[in-house]
Amino acid sequence: MTAMIEAVGVHKFFGHLHVLKGVDLTVERGEVCVVLGPSGSGKSTLLRCVNELEQISAGRITVDGELMGLREVVKGGATVLHRRTDKDIARQRAKIGMVFQRFNLFPHMTALQNVMEAPVQVLGLTKAKARERALQELERVGLADRVDHYPGQLSGGQQQRVAIARALAMDPQLMLFDEPTSALDPELVGEVLAVMRELADSGMTMMVVTHEVGFAREVADQVVFMDEGEIVERGAPAQLIDTPRHQRTRDFFAKVL
Ligand SMILES: Nc1ncnc2c1ncn2[C@@H]1O[C@H](COP(=O)(O)OP(=O)(O)OP(=O)(O)O)[C@@H](O)[C@H]1O
Ligand SMILES: [Mg+2]
Repeated sequence: MTAMIEAVGVHKFFGHLHVLKGVDLTVERGEVCVVLGPSGSGKSTLLRCVNELEQISAGRITVDGELMGLREVVKGGATVLHRRTDKDIARQRAKIGMVFQRFNLFPHMTALQNVMEAPVQVLGLTKAKARERALQELERVGLADRVDHYPGQLSGGQQQRVAIARALAMDPQLMLFDEPTSALDPELVGEVLAVMRELADSGMTMMVVTHEVGFAREVADQVVFMDEGEIVERGAPAQLIDTPRHQRTRDFFAKVL
């Protein structure tokens, strides 16, 4: 079996700005990989490259054994890379759930309607089937009693849990989280982390950018520390957090802990 995510020699430029400088990363199936690092180190960019929200400048990323955004074509004995069609990229992306800092729910739709939307529109599920699945996912995130509420009637933590349910309703193979609790009031962080922890326990493969070092310590299988577009070091949480090998990592934890 191949790894769920395999990034090899990934570079990303925004104009002249070199944001990812040769990132190698493997996330195994069922693994929780937490990415830590200072602001501007390239964490979001890396996550966005994994699901093709950004195109990489060099290197390769495979998810579930498939090259993201590109396909290999053999031409006259040589293998060349072609850009995938938009439709094919959409198919690849549909297998990856993403949760952002901002929940981006449709304000004019109830929690249930928000969660049903993509399975109907993208997967072509019947409304009845999508509704059944959405109710299951909303129950899974502890919102069975809020399904008919509009986003404006829900707390930030509840909205973020709807956003997680919405991603799960697409039956993803992989979930990406970009600072899912950073926009929340402190008292609402725990309920979202609890849902993420349960998801990890259920065997979901997850890549999580967060500043929640406690979550990293307790839930991650692998913690990756990024600085200035590079992975400085990686390891098991206790090793990386408590006994980092590199001075840059030590300086970071000295500030955040
Ligand atoms: N679309 C873009 N165009 C130009 N520069 C960008 C773009 N997106 C990100 N950058 C730059 O790339 C660098 C890395 O940004 P990125 O958002 O990946 O960092 P980050 O580690 O997620 O930071 P934070 O912790 O603040 O979210 C920054 O210098 C940022 O300004
Ligand atoms: Mg970011």
